[in-house]
Amino acid sequence: MDRQNWVVDGKRGKNDIQLRDKYIESGKIPFDLAISMGLKSIATDPWLMVLQHMPGLLGFKLRQIFYKKRLGKMGKGAIIDPDVEISHPRNVYLDEFSYLARRTQIYCPEGYVRIGKRCHIGGWILGHGGVDIGHCVASGGTILSVTDSHQGGYRMSGPMIPRQQRNLRYGKVVIEDDAFIGQQSIIMPGVHIGEGAVIAPFSLVLRNVPAWTVVYGNPAIKLGMRDKVKFPVPH
Ligand SMILES: CC(C)(COP(=O)(O)OP(=O)(O)OC[C@H]1O[C@@H](n2cnc3c(N)ncnc32)[C@H](O)[C@@H]1OP(=O)(O)O)[C@@H](O)C(=O)NCCC(=O)NCCS
Repeated sequence: MDRQNWVVDGKRGKNDIQLRDKYIESGKIPFDLAISMGLKSIATDPWLMVLQHMPGLLGFKLRQIFYKKRLGKMGKGAIIDPDVEISHPRNVYLDEFSYLARRTQIYCPEGYVRIGKRCHIGGWILGHGGVDIGHCVASGGTILSVTDSHQGGYRMSGPMIPRQQRNLRYGKVVIEDDAFIGQQSIIMPGVHIGEGAVIAPFSLVLRNVPAWTVVYGNPAIKLGMRDKVKFPVPH
């Protein structure tokens, strides 16, 4: 992967944090935030709703124009299908000629998701702990760089629980060039998927997978090896 010079901030916005914390405590949206965030969303969300679902060539073109301004990076020739949801596009970096498939969901209020060139990405990605995807990767799986942990007596029931009652386990996920993540697989936080590794559909990946290795099952174990790709990454 050669993306050293991509700027990655990935900080959670102050308003975002305040809004959630105050809402789960009182059930009310604080007035000042309702004004600042509400007015902004009145101006942007109706357009987003139309853009996000628009089929056909016009939809593809409009999403290219829109996301060029909104994503951390939208590379030349990258395309985004209808019905793709990206929660905090500033933290998402999509390199040249990559393709986000229909119904992909990227949730990334903090951290980042970087996707290399010529990838085909679907499924569900949580970017909080950082997700680094190389070039020519296909994924139809769930990629988790954060998850709730029960260890230490914490609650696991998610975002409506006050922050101090949760124990979030963060771990950067790295997926090297030419890896393949089969449909409905789950990649857990901190896992490193080596170059060209293949994760068979419906696998649960708890540990690192070496390069060019095919794994399957729950927990994922080695099925065999694959031949190395013999072509350079296309320009
Ligand atoms: C994982 C995969 C790449 C392995 O391919 P392969 O190396 O050519 O191996 P085979 O398909 O010959 O399978 C080898 C063995 O593993 C088993 N196997 C393959 N995938 C499996 C899986 N997900 N879970 C359990 N067993 C699996 C096969 O049944 C076979 O068992 P056998 O030797 O007892 O007959 C292939 O099975 C696969 O799933 N491809 C991806 C399909 C997919 O997700 N398509 C969607 C693209 S968007």
